[in-house]
This record gives sequence, structure tokens and C-alpha cells, in this order.
Amino acid sequence: MKKAIFAENNLEMLLAQKSENLKGRSALVCGGSKGIGFASAIYLAEMGAKVTILARNESDLQEAVTALPSPNPDIKHSYIACDTNNIEELKSKIIAKQSEQGQPYLILVNNSGGPPAGPISSAKNEDFQAAFYQHLIVNHTISLLLIPAMKENHFGRIINVISTSVKQPLPNLGVSNTIRAAVANWSKTMANELAKDGITVNNVLPGATETDRLATIIQNKAAKTGSLLQSVTAEMLHEIPAGRFGQPREIAAAIGFLASTESSYITGINIPVDGGRTGNL
Ligand SMILES: NC(=O)c1ccc[n+]([C@@H]2O[C@H](COP(=O)([O-])OP(=O)(O)OC[C@H]3O[C@@H](n4cnc5c(N)ncnc54)[C@H](OP(=O)(O)O)[C@@H]3O)[C@@H](O)[C@H]2O)c1
Repeated sequence: MKKAIFAENNLEMLLAQKSENLKGRSALVCGGSKGIGFASAIYLAEMGAKVTILARNESDLQEAVTALPSPNPDIKHSYIACDTNNIEELKSKIIAKQSEQGQPYLILVNNSGGPPAGPISSAKNEDFQAAFYQHLIVNHTISLLLIPAMKENHFGRIINVISTSVKQPLPNLGVSNTIRAAVANWSKTMANELAKDGITVNNVLPGATETDRLATIIQNKAAKTGSLLQSVTAEMLHEIPAGRFGQPREIAAAIGFLASTESSYITGINIPVDGGRTGNL
């Protein structure tokens, strides 16, 4: 009984400590209504941040924002409904939301839907252009909007959700493999330029993670090869030393650490969160 009380108190204490880490800070989580983005928004909210999630579908956003925890009742999370491909609307909505909350976003999670699957040998020029725009131009535009306040506060965290294909190209993801490498090098260059201002820029590389995106990849592969969903799933699991897919919260935990005050001397790196799947260091 004594042991149980101790454990309970300990857990409460740990949760209270966690909610102090980002207290008073605001975070913008792109693609925050679903999957990895949503799990990251929850994690950052647990760390005490005031979180804004951004995505296109407003009813998904409304549902997601109400599920975000608030360790402090004064913290009101919010959302921005916008297609990131509409750059002018994106910029004006972010600026408007910042002034509505009277606080700049010092934590930015750049995250979005992945480019469609397919072999590179049949990819069209427009496919590369669309993916480059959605992943690199959008990340760059939002970062440029937020960096001045990060510099002023001598604190900033830019975390890009990319893919393990940065380290090892994945089969049948030709456009994605190409664009992810560009985003990783954009990020490393930003990290070098911004380190002296107390701003870190890092990449989280998810492995196969149980979200809508993974379900679509499995369905497409099964349809293309005429295989059963179970066979495609088993084949994918076979390549993962951990023997299972990741959970969005496991990716979010890495994002939470990179957003924390403790990660201040880590910048310009790639962190795979992939159950050991990537075959190189
Ligand atoms: N899941 C995996 O196994 C895995 C593995 C490696 C890499 N990744 C990468 O990690 C990232 C997140 O993956 P996920 O699995 O979490 O994806 P997801 O479940 O499909 O969620 C994507 C999120 O992005 C939003 N979004 C998509 N397009 C958008 C746009 N044009 N404008 C604004 N918001 C947009 C979606 O909401 P709306 O549709 O409402 O806009 C949703 O909130 C992707 O880049 C993915 O490729 C995932």
C-alpha cells in the first residue's frame, strides 16, 4: 500500500515537472489534427505549451483541439484551418493567430502529409514540384515568419518531421526520397546559421508508424502487387528489428525532447525513430 502511494505521488510529481518545461511558451504544430502531428501536439501540451494545430479539415481540427490536455486552465489551445499550399493565406492566418494570442510561436513543428508513393522512373515533373513546394517552400515560409521572434527571445525550436529515407532511400517512394533529402539539407543549413541565436533546428525521421499514412501505403502496395494486406504488413514488419510498427506517441516523445529546454545544445541532427529499421548510422 505504502509502495502504491509512493508510486502515485512520484507519477504526479513527474507529470507536474513535465508540465513546467514549456510553460509560458507557444507551439505551432503543422499537420496537427492527425497521426504524428496530433500526438506531438498532445505531448507538447503535456509539457505546458500553448499549442496551435494547423491542417485543412476544420472538423478534424475542432475534434483534435478539444482533446489536447491543459495542465493549467488558463492555457487555451487553438487551431488554424488552412491548406499550407496556399502560402499567402497561410502567412496571414499564422500572423493573425499570433496576435490573437499575444504571444509568438517559439516552437515550430514542420509536418504535413507525405508525397504519393510510386517509382521514381515514372514520376512526373509536377510531382516533384508539388512535393518540393509542400515540404520545403512551406517549411521555409513558416520558419521565416517565426525566426525574428525566436531571435528576440534567444530561444527557438524548429523540428521537421521528415522520414528515414533521408539516410536510406525507401522502395517505391521515389519523389518522397528525393524531396526529403532536400528538406534535411535545408534544415542543416538553417541550423548552422541560427545556432548562435539560441535557435535549434532538428529533424525527426519516423519509421513505419501506425497512422492513416501507413494504412494508405500498405493498401497501395497490396493493390499494386496483388498481395494480401496481411502479407504486405508481414513483409514490412520483417524489416524492423523491434518487430512492430511505431506508435505516433513514440515519435512525439522525440519531438518533445527536441522542443524542451534540455535539448539546447543539440542542433542540425537527424533522429530516426524507427525500431532499428534504418540500416546505417
Ligand atoms: N506514418 C508513417 O509511417 C511515416 C513514416 C515516415 C515518414 N512519415 C512522414 O511523417 C509525416 C506525418 O505523417 P503521418 O503519418 O502523421 O500523416 P497523416 O496521419 O496523414 O497526417 C497528416 C497531417 O497533415 C495534414 N495535412 C496534410 N496535407 C496538408 C496540407 N496541404 N495543408 C495543411 N495540412 C495538411 C493532415 O490534415 P488534413 O488532411 O486535414 O489537412 C494531417 O493533420 C508525413 O510527412 C509522412 O510522410 C510518416
